[in-house]
Parts: sequence; structure tokens; C-alpha cells
Amino acid sequence: MYIALMKKAVTYTLYPEPPVPIDRNLAVKPPYFRFVASVVSRALRRFDYVLARDAHQSEEDRYNGRVWAVYAHTMIGVPRLDNIQHAIETVIEEGIEGDLIETGVWRGGATIFMRAVLKAHGVNDRRVFVADSFDGLPEPDPAHIADKGDTHHLYSYLKVSREEVEDNFRKYALLDDKVVFLDGWFKDTLPIAPIDKLSVLRLDGDMYGSTIEVLNTLYPKLSSGGFCIIDDYALSACQRAVDDFRRQQGIVDEMHQTDWTGRFWRKG
Ligand SMILES: C[S@@+](CC[C@H](N)C(=O)[O-])C[C@H]1O[C@@H](n2cnc3c(N)ncnc32)[C@H](O)[C@@H]1O
Repeated sequence: MYIALMKKAVTYTLYPEPPVPIDRNLAVKPPYFRFVASVVSRALRRFDYVLARDAHQSEEDRYNGRVWAVYAHTMIGVPRLDNIQHAIETVIEEGIEGDLIETGVWRGGATIFMRAVLKAHGVNDRRVFVADSFDGLPEPDPAHIADKGDTHHLYSYLKVSREEVEDNFRKYALLDDKVVFLDGWFKDTLPIAPIDKLSVLRLDGDMYGSTIEVLNTLYPKLSSGGFCIIDDYALSACQRAVDDFRRQQGIVDEMHQTDWTGRFWRKG
């Protein structure tokens, strides 16, 4: 029941989503809108009123992680959390050794959930690595043609500070010494991360570069029988990175579909 409740909590699907204050995320709006919205909002706030809009996100889309979440601590939706639970419970049951990692955590919800599942099973000898720049996505690297013109780095919405993620862990009473933050660009942090073995490797970095760098560096550390989970297979750049990597490495382990974008395979 705790795990089921955690899924609803981190996806904010326990409650209907409240309207979004209009002065939130103004950076991506046109200048005239920014000006009017901030002047009107400031004036109203003096009288304890908030100007807000309905985000128009359906329950179904939020459940399936098909929309950029407004209030939730993760945007991946319930089916991909079910998949994380399945992976963790399988590696525990089968005694597959290694820590867990998510590369690309945003507000931290999926990694918070990983720690929760371990805790619910009384597992204290596996760490959860929380890897992110905590400053959004990198500008496209010209070395990766598939990332040409990628605009993810422009979105302030995707920049969540390490302090905010730590704070989110604290809210669930899940910040402890089994949670290890890897703060910085994957290309810098992952090669020197204090990781020996992984049992669950979850990638959620959206871009070709942010996917291939992780696979190149961490896949060799994934135990046999461990889970390699891909969040963004619906994004063509990520899909190309995964397909290139599998082809180059001769990986023939069956790739399973979790939902409209999630995929995973178990290392043979
Ligand atoms: C779509 S969000 C992850 C969503 C998250 N897994 C969740 O549960 O909601 C992508 C994240 O990847 C991070 N990221 C992408 N590429 C990165 C890179 N090369 N180095 C470090 N962080 C990166 C971004 O900062 C962002 O937080």
C-alpha cells in the first residue's frame, strides 16, 4: 500500500491538479505577455489573490506521463513507475547485485520512488545514484548529428536545482546515506562516479548525447540480469542512440515495451 501510495504522491495523481499561477514559468512567454502578467499578478497578490490558468491536463495524460507535469515530482507517469518497481523487486528476488541509478532526474520523483521501494523491502545495501546537471540539458554537441537543433537546453522548466531535489527527498523522509548525488554533466561525473556494479540503470536524458554517454560509461557496470531502462524511446534522438549502441555492442537481449515511450531489456 505504501508503494502504491508513493506512485500517486510522486505523480500528483491523488488530487485534481490546481490551476497554475500565470506568473510561473514566464521566461518562455512573449515579452508583452510577461509584462502584463507580472504587473497584474503582483497587484492581485497584494490582496491575496492569484491569477491562475487551468493547465488542461487530463487525468489520463498525467497518469501516463504524457504531459510536462506542473506540480508532480516526476513526469514519467504510473506505468513507468510500475516498471521501476518490477525491476527492483526482480533484482532483489533474483539476487542480482548492484546499485540503482537514474541519469536525468528533474525534480527527483523517480529516484525518490526507487529509494521508497528499497526501503519498503527493508533493503539497505543498495545505493540510489541521482545523476543530473541540476541545471537542465546541455547545448547540442556538434559531434552528435541526431541532436542538431535540439532545444531542450532552452527550457528553464527542465532546470531543477540540487537543493530542490534534496528537499523533495526530505519531504518523503527518504534522504539518507544510501542516496548519492552525482552533480554535473554526465560526461564529467559518470566516468569518475564511485559505482562498481549496477542492477538497475535508468536513462532519462532525452538527447542522443545524454543517452549514448550514459550507455558507453555505465552499461559495462550493469550486472548480468540487470535492467537497462530507457525513458525516452519515443524521442527520435534517444531512440537512435539506443539502437546505435545495441548494434555496436551486438546486444540482442529482447527489448520490452513499458508504455508509449518506455522500453527496457535485461542484460544477458
Ligand atoms: C526529462 S528530465 C528527467 C525526468 C525525470 N526522470 C522524472 O522522473 O521526471 C531530463 C533531465 O535530464 C537532465 N540531463 C539531460 N542531459 C544531461 C546531461 N548530459 N548531464 C546532466 N544532466 C542531464 C536534465 O537536467 C533534466 O533534469
